[in-house]
Amino acid sequence: MATFTLPKNSKIRKDGKAHTAAGASRVKKFKIYRYDPDSGENPRYDTFEIDLDNCGPMVLDALIKIKNEIDPTLTFRRSCREGICGSCAMNMNGANGLACTTAMEDLPSEVRITPLPHMDVIKDLVPDFTHFYAQYASIRPWLQAVSPAPSGKERKQSPEQREKLDGLYECILCACCSTSCPSYWWNSDKFLGPAILLQAYRWLADSRDEMTGERLDALEDPFRLYRCHTIMNCANVCPKGLSPARAIAEIKKMQAERQI
Ligand code: SF4
Ligand code: F3S
Ligand code: FES
Repeated sequence: MATFTLPKNSKIRKDGKAHTAAGASRVKKFKIYRYDPDSGENPRYDTFEIDLDNCGPMVLDALIKIKNEIDPTLTFRRSCREGICGSCAMNMNGANGLACTTAMEDLPSEVRITPLPHMDVIKDLVPDFTHFYAQYASIRPWLQAVSPAPSGKERKQSPEQREKLDGLYECILCACCSTSCPSYWWNSDKFLGPAILLQAYRWLADSRDEMTGERLDALEDPFRLYRCHTIMNCANVCPKGLSPARAIAEIKKMQAERQI
């Protein structure tokens, strides 16, 4: 068990034992993955107890409380705290999700928190997104058109054309789906994974984009697209309720249709 460096004025014991919420009537126990590459030590779990009557309702509230009041070295990402930025994605009791939209009462009494699976860890709950972002850049995630905009100002869409982007544009690139996909675990060097493929389809489905053929050519590969074996973890785990599996199926359909 770790010895914590405590904030100034902290009244918490500093003897390396788990932090306990002594005297609290509603207590939640957290086991949190810790890893500090600078320490030279192996990863470990630290245990903290939180008094639920003195904490907000979400897992992120508990993490912030631990960091502010018990162990300021605990490291995790967060920004919006309302499911918009995607930065607080982590694994809670075996399921990927956003700490800011996951209520503690929905998790069994002890909460085990680890970083998103199968990604390199920078520190504690912070995974390294370098490869994920490079894969995102590889699909050229922006509107590509060669013809001038009809009005000289903007490219309009009909309501029906715009509707085709529903279920796609809401993606916050949290990577919960990709890091829950076994195909991505084993082949993330070559398989783009559900998050990036959903983004790829977002541009294929956009009526204003004129690079459909080039985009499909770039995905026509035994690994980049076809390593999806319809395992469906991606659709089950997405905190925004999206279905990367459906987007992938649509890309495969487009690939098949252009062979005819
Ligand atoms: Fe996150 Fe859902 Fe986008 Fe995947 S599809 S990156 S789980 S928001
Ligand atoms: Fe993976 Fe989703 Fe396909 S979990 S295998 S990307 S359906
Ligand atoms: Fe932004 Fe959780 S802090 S999604």
